[in-house]
Amino acid sequence: MDLGLKGKTALVIGASRGLGAASAKLLAEEGAHVIAASRSGDAPAEGMEGIKLDLSDAGSVDALIARLAEQPVDILVNNCGGPAAGPAKGQSKAAWAAAFDAMAAPIFAITDAALPGMIAKGWGRVVTVGSSGIVQPIPNLALSNGVRGAVAGWSKTLAEEVAPHGITVNMVLPGRIATDRLAQLDGIKAEKTGASVDAVQEASRKTIPAGRYGKPEEFASMVTYLCSTQASYVTGSMIRVDGGMIRGM
Ligand SMILES: NC(=O)c1ccc[n+]([C@@H]2O[C@H](COP(=O)([O-])OP(=O)(O)OC[C@H]3O[C@@H](n4cnc5c(N)ncnc54)[C@H](OP(=O)(O)O)[C@@H]3O)[C@@H](O)[C@H]2O)c1
Repeated sequence: MDLGLKGKTALVIGASRGLGAASAKLLAEEGAHVIAASRSGDAPAEGMEGIKLDLSDAGSVDALIARLAEQPVDILVNNCGGPAAGPAKGQSKAAWAAAFDAMAAPIFAITDAALPGMIAKGWGRVVTVGSSGIVQPIPNLALSNGVRGAVAGWSKTLAEEVAPHGITVNMVLPGRIATDRLAQLDGIKAEKTGASVDAVQEASRKTIPAGRYGKPEEFASMVTYLCSTQASYVTGSMIRVDGGMIRGM
């Protein structure tokens, strides 16, 4: 199937590793020109443009915003690093503000800067990476659960505002996809409980009906579909890629 991505320009944030890298690669394979942004600036594959971006640095975000005014994009994949693990109880105001300033506010600002170019073309795709924690909060990941809830509210609100311009705005929620981030979280859990990492992963897999962690490529397939011309009537949605892990409907 031709996804209609040839000749489109896609900016993928958090694209050097994990879910962002897999999404960037698949979009490029489908013919999009991909700009891969991350702190390292490493492009995950040949033929992509890697650029440096630190979402928690206002100056770095402003530089990207200025670039978007000059070089518009058709597709924006909003992804970010995950915040520190920890409970809801006892989180400082500063920790909440830092998480919001790294995961929410810059995403809102970058998307705002990308919208005029999409509106001018009457076509655009905004896909934001969330977490299963938006639907079913994950224990000991309070900052992620809380800030991503705000991102979900923003995404849904924006979807309605820009739908008349041919722009779709969706979220994809990973369950447990095998990346550096998941390995780090499993390590933290193992340390906290005294169990081995293998035992933590075995117990984790048992909670997933598919019986395994997902592959980044499986996640990227959904992101890429949402960026396609075929997905023109899907907007304001949050789609789970979780092997059935979330039990609620
Ligand atoms: N994997 C899962 O199962 C899962 C489940 C639920 C939610 N999530 C969330 O989905 C997102 C992506 O997950 P992942 O597993 O792919 O994470 P990952 O392996 O840690 O990759 C994160 C990516 O974001 C970039 N990044 C980190 N901090 C950044 C910053 N301040 N500014 C710009 N780029 C930054 C990293 O590159 P640099 O280090 O080069 O900047 C990297 O490319 C994370 O927010 C994660 O919490 C993942």
